[in-house]
This record gives sequence, C-alpha cells and structure tokens, in this order.
Amino acid sequence: MKDFVFYNPVKVYFGKNCMKHFDKEVRKHGKKVLLVYGKGSIKKNGAYNDIMNALKKAGMDVVEFSGVQPNPVLSHTRKGIEIAKKEKVDFIIAAGGGSVIDESKAIAAGAVVDFDVWDFYTGKKVVKDALPIVTVLTLPATASEMNMGSVITDEETGLKLSTGGEALYPEASFLNPEYTMTLPKEQIVYGTVDAISHIVEPYFNHTAKYNPLSLNIADGVLKTLKETCENILISPDNYEYRAAHMWAVTVAFNGLIRTGLGKSEFPNHAIEHAISGLFPEVAHGAGLAVVMPAWMNFMKENISSLLLRFSSNLFGSVNDESAAIEVFKNWLKSIGAPVSLSEIGVDKDAIPGISEKAEEIMRLWGMNIEVYSRENIEKILENAK
Ligand code: NZQ
Ligand code: ZN
Repeated sequence: MKDFVFYNPVKVYFGKNCMKHFDKEVRKHGKKVLLVYGKGSIKKNGAYNDIMNALKKAGMDVVEFSGVQPNPVLSHTRKGIEIAKKEKVDFIIAAGGGSVIDESKAIAAGAVVDFDVWDFYTGKKVVKDALPIVTVLTLPATASEMNMGSVITDEETGLKLSTGGEALYPEASFLNPEYTMTLPKEQIVYGTVDAISHIVEPYFNHTAKYNPLSLNIADGVLKTLKETCENILISPDNYEYRAAHMWAVTVAFNGLIRTGLGKSEFPNHAIEHAISGLFPEVAHGAGLAVVMPAWMNFMKENISSLLLRFSSNLFGSVNDESAAIEVFKNWLKSIGAPVSLSEIGVDKDAIPGISEKAEEIMRLWGMNIEVYSRENIEKILENAK
C-alpha cells in the first residue's frame, strides 16, 4: 500500500426521485445561477423541466448558457466566463454529460480570476478558487460529477488539456438514471469504455506493490460495467440496469479505486486526448476503444500478470497476453465500439501529429517520456491502424 490522502466532498443525490432535493440544495449556494447545458438533449430527457421547476420554487434568478459542444472548446468557455462575470452569478448548474460539467468547471474557475482560464490548463496557474458547482448528470461516462478534473480543447491549436483542483469538486451532483433513457446506444457504449479505461489506467500503471482491496474493487466495478452495458443494450428501458450502470461509472473514477495504488500514469488518456483534440468529432470513449488494445499490445510483456487477471475476471481464462487482448478487442467490437483508427475517421498519416500532441500532454502530466517517447507513441498508434 502506498500512502494516500482521500478526499471527496461531493454530495451525491442518486435515484429516480433525487430531484425532489434539488431546490433545497441549490438554495445553499446563492440567489443567481448560471445554468450551463449543451445542444438541447436536456429538454428531451426531462432534466431541464425538473431543474427549471425547482429553480422557480427556490425563487432563483436564472441565466441560461447553452451550446456546449462534445469535447468542449476554449472559445465557448471564455464566453461563459464573460457572462458569469457580467451577470455576477453566485454559482453554476451544469446539466448534461462530461463536456457540460467540464466546461462549467472551467467557467467556475475562470469567473473568479482576472487572467485567461487557459493558464490553468497549460499549468501556468493553479486552480485555488471557483464558483460553487451543482451538476445534473445525463450521461454516465467521465465521473466528472464526482471528481475535480476538467478537460478543454483549444480549438485553434487542437491541444486538449486538463486541469484540476479541490475547488472544482462539485458541491452536489444529482444522478437520476431516468435521464439516461434518451441516450443513443453508442453513448452508452462510449461511456462504458471510458469508465473501463478509468480503471484500466491505475490497474495496469500503478506503483504500489501490494493493494488487494483496490484491485478487487476494480475487478468488481469492471464486471459491473460489462454486465450492465450488455444488459442496457438488450433492454434499454430497464431502470435497474441504467441505475446500476450509472453508479458503477461514477465509482470508476471518483478516486476510490486509486487509493493506496500510488502514482498511476494515464497513457491511454494522453493519447486519446491528442486524438480528440485534433479530431473533435471523435467521442472520447470511441478514441479509448481504439487506443486501449493497441496500448496493451505495446505493453503486454510488462503488464503480463495483470493482463491475464483482467481478462480472466471479465471473460474467463486465456492462454497468453495476446489472447487476452484479442478477447477484449472482440468484446469491444461486440458492443459496437470501434477498434481501429480508420473506424473513427483518422487516417494513418495523422499518426505523427497525434504523437506530437500526446507527447506534449504526457510532459505536462509528468509521465515517463523515455517509455512514451514520440517513436513509442507512434508504435502504439501503428498497432491501432
Ligand atoms: O449537447 P447535448 O445536448 O448535451 O448532447 C450530448 C452530446 O451530444 C449527448 N447527451 C448527453 N446526455 C444525453 C445526451 N443525448 C441524449 N440523452 C441524454 N440523456 O451526448 C453527447 C456527448 O456528450 P458529452 O458530454 O460530450 O460526453 P461525455 O460525458 O462522454 O464527455 C466527454 C468529455 O469529457 C472529457 C472527455 O475528454 C470529453 O471532452 N473527460 C472528462 C473527464 C473528467 N472531467 O474527469 C475524464 C474523462 O477521462 C474525459 O477526458
Ligand atoms: Zn476518460
């Protein structure tokens, strides 16, 4: 076990009736709110109506800021900060998926400083303060609703970077599985793959020598993700599957599994962020489905025993590492996830450019650049052609 500090202050309201607590919760954070959302899915899944009714009940002054795009961009974030400052809002409600929550976190941090918000992402500045954030989650994928991360793309350079800080933990998050019923199947698949990747990174890349608890929790969450995703794809109207899936996705990346595992590198994420930064139409989970088996293939000798454990936990035992990767890849295909760069519309000519961006991200994350030299990142991506 490695030493650790575990801190997660997010109050989670979970279930089909959770919104009955919403007006009471938001009253704690002020009188004037910036309601941030995307392109309108919240108006179809019921979240918008429930939020507006509760805000009315709470007598709240509401400023709406919509149009957050998947893989959220810096220019729209800056607009949100301008509005938050001009309107002097007390707090932010983020209603949607990870993109909406991440951009809301950026607005929350940017609204309380007089320098450019991008400085937080390039590492020039540290997030120390932010407006309070309350989230209403409609897409289980990132766990941004229960962590302190935020990822934004500077669309002018194609650089997708992340920041974090305790001030970015939401005050409260509302998880109503019924809001996820309108999700297209591919978003369930991408969300599941993203959650699996959040476990895969510390599972294979941790530094602790002995931590059975984290690995056993990880195995349990991985199994739950696989089972609930498969069940939702067969029975999309089943509330129990949606609920079990939603909570497993959040637990996958709320910090619990990583306790005592020590420093874990996130190479699959660095490479995927480079892809979706340059190709913003690629969903994060789709990019990860392509990168993960390719990365496993590159690392298979170093992660041998864990790879066999991962595979046997999810799919039953196999003879060797290559078979373990193949069985994982086949499962990804079976749920409809892409497993090659060409399937996500990325030509092999883009590999050098992606590798350059990935290296930049890895440097910012303090990763081992000897293992992840540009040449080696290219080798990983060559495995994904
Ligand atoms: O624009 P709207 O209307 O909101 O539609 C969204 C969007 O088109 C739609 N959607 C959301 N809920 C829906 C729905 N459609 C129908 N019914 C619903 N209930 O789904 C589309 C994708 O949404 P998005 O928020 O982009 O997806 P996701 O939650 O996967 O977020 C991805 C972003 O989060 C970042 C990713 O890099 C990417 O930018 N990540 C954030 C992390 C974090 N903060 O901890 C960690 C992750 O590793 C990840 O990097
Ligand atoms: Zn992710």
